[in-house]
Amino acid sequence: MEYVFRILRCDPMKDEHPYFQDFSYETEEKKSMLEALMDIRNEQDCTLAFRYSCREAICGSCGMVINGKFDLACRTMVDSLKSSVIVIEPLPNLEIQKDLAVDMEPFFEAVRRIEPYLFSEGKIPEKGHRIEDREMDKIFQYVNCILCGCCYSACPVVARDERCLGPAALAKLFRFVKDPRDKRPFSNWSRVNTETGLWGCDTVFKCNEVCPKDVRPADGIEALRRKLVVEKIKRIFRKER
Ligand code: SF4
Ligand code: FES
Repeated sequence: MEYVFRILRCDPMKDEHPYFQDFSYETEEKKSMLEALMDIRNEQDCTLAFRYSCREAICGSCGMVINGKFDLACRTMVDSLKSSVIVIEPLPNLEIQKDLAVDMEPFFEAVRRIEPYLFSEGKIPEKGHRIEDREMDKIFQYVNCILCGCCYSACPVVARDERCLGPAALAKLFRFVKDPRDKRPFSNWSRVNTETGLWGCDTVFKCNEVCPKDVRPADGIEALRRKLVVEKIKRIFRKER
């Protein structure tokens, strides 16, 4: 089968604007988009830049836009696209470093801001901090996030205001706030009670649509909003802040 790979190219060191470059690609084998990109890089243009690591949808490095759809290159099979012309673009909302590799720092900075680790209390038990299966079931969907950045990149709120935390960070915060082992104080997580945090989300659910791991970050944002409002009301009755 013959394909045309139309890849967005840009080397900010020398190109004024990004441009599309076509590559002919032929394969009779079942290949993932990542394997095809590696073939093109190895056989046609060694300057083609893209990011990957695990090759099995775990590390989150190979997010890109393939024929208009946000996905991981390593889990997208070339023949599943049902098209002989395949358009590949880098994740939007993030600066291009080179070709399909973007600067993920704003995304990781947003995740760091919510302090994405367990706030435990007391000594660590001998067998570690345990969690009941039924409690794990409640957060499992959010634990599956591989930090690929697709949701952040597709988010229209992040597009118009780069100060916004974005879907992955907020869903991750909900994952910890909901975790019975996490003892972070209300004053810590309620810091997202802002226009660029929890209330910035327009609930257009683009993040749910594009997430390759079915995390459904918008569900986490809505659940965290409900939790915040309930906690605030409880505190008003207890005359706490
Ligand atoms: Fe990627 Fe989904 Fe995590 Fe967003 S929530 S970073 S789309 S895995
Ligand atoms: Fe790791 Fe694709 S290479 S998710």
